[in-house]
Amino acid sequence: MRTTVGIIGAGPAGLLLARLLHRAGIDSVVLESRDRAYVEQRQRAGILEQGTVDVLRAAGAGERMDREGLPHDGVELRFDRRRHRVDFPALTGGRSVMVYAQTEVCKDLIALQLKEGGPLLFEAEALAVEDAEGDRPRVRFRHEGVEDVLECDYVVGCDGFWGIARGSLPAGLGRTFERVYPYSWLGILADVAPSHDELVYARHDRGFALLSMRSPSVSRLYLQVPAGTDAEEWGDERIWDELERRFETEDGWRLARGPITQKSVTPMRSFVHEPMRHGRLFLAGDAAHIVPPTGAKGLNLAVGDVVTFARALEHERRTGSAELLDAYSATCLRRVWQAERFSYDMTTLLHRAPDATEFEDRLQLARLERIASSRAAETDLAEAYTGFPLD
Ligand code: FAD
Ligand code: DHB
Repeated sequence: MRTTVGIIGAGPAGLLLARLLHRAGIDSVVLESRDRAYVEQRQRAGILEQGTVDVLRAAGAGERMDREGLPHDGVELRFDRRRHRVDFPALTGGRSVMVYAQTEVCKDLIALQLKEGGPLLFEAEALAVEDAEGDRPRVRFRHEGVEDVLECDYVVGCDGFWGIARGSLPAGLGRTFERVYPYSWLGILADVAPSHDELVYARHDRGFALLSMRSPSVSRLYLQVPAGTDAEEWGDERIWDELERRFETEDGWRLARGPITQKSVTPMRSFVHEPMRHGRLFLAGDAAHIVPPTGAKGLNLAVGDVVTFARALEHERRTGSAELLDAYSATCLRRVWQAERFSYDMTTLLHRAPDATEFEDRLQLARLERIASSRAAETDLAEAYTGFPLD
């Protein structure tokens, strides 16, 4: 098989890249190791930055998002039993975010790709990328039990943190930067109307909690738990009791309970691989970098990477100049490190480390007080949360 761009992975990065290239008249093949149902049901991100919403619309993939997504103009910070609302449009000149789940973004992009785009092969596992330094890189893969080769002009590894693309870079060429946090998130989906109409990020001495949503009748909630926790240790009543304590306010706010339909634990990590390109192999999304989920940045960063790649390749096709492709890694990494900084700040602002001292508790409260009382500090949070514009 032969194509212009071989894309490994059909998460948000790979699917959107295929769509952007199709719109630009550039052909691609997407290889995805899992089946379609798995990709469409894997519960992960929920928040789309303004720029991501704009990109999906421009790619002709925003129709259902605009019908069913929930535009949000702010979030609530909760600490010391008090509530503080951050008003995004007022602080950022009109920017906001959209609650629309990653599962739905993937379903929309898969449907479009199968209808209008190039081949998207499920249960097609990439095994290795070969000859990235030459003019004709290849992806060796196995589809329906048979090994095959995809010959490409470019390969983009959109295969997530555990994929094979990053490992195909020559050893010793790059550098990695990493921090693993001593806590995880226990996430649940529950059939109950969200108890608040905006997201609530809560800092509590017992640990962090987050209230989010998937629809007007489905809540998504997260609890900080120790790293290595097994979701089965947490019975439903215990989860609701703990959420209730962490969200408690002095004004008597109530958390509504309902049947829990899904439970899972996510470890927390910051990770960056530099550079994000070697020869004709490019890395995009979680294959190159991971953020802890507190800032809601992972999916949005993946979108930024593939937009940057698609623009660079279009530029090369139009002008013959590889200048933007050559700048790909540096362009993406500027944005990546801003998201790493923000995600780290939000994580350490709101979580309680197992060895935290009372001094550090007081500092967290002082940082939160600062955001609640200084327009400058609050604007910094609002700008980063709604996302830095794609340049
Ligand atoms: P992935 O979604 O991991 O996709 C990679 C794909 O490659 C997968 O489908 C995988 O099956 C496939 N693959 C792997 N290996 C191979 C192979 N060898 N051959 C072929 N295919 C392969 N981000 C946000 O922006 N906002 C949020 O609110 C948010 N909340 C989150 C909450 C949780 C609980 C979690 C876990 C994550 C959250 N994220 C959030 C992060 C976000 O989900 C990820 O950053 C995003 O999925 C990255 O997309 P990706 O396409 O790069 O990688
Ligand atoms: C969701 C996930 C996040 O990581 C976050 O910061 C906000 C919302 C969510 O899954 O809805």
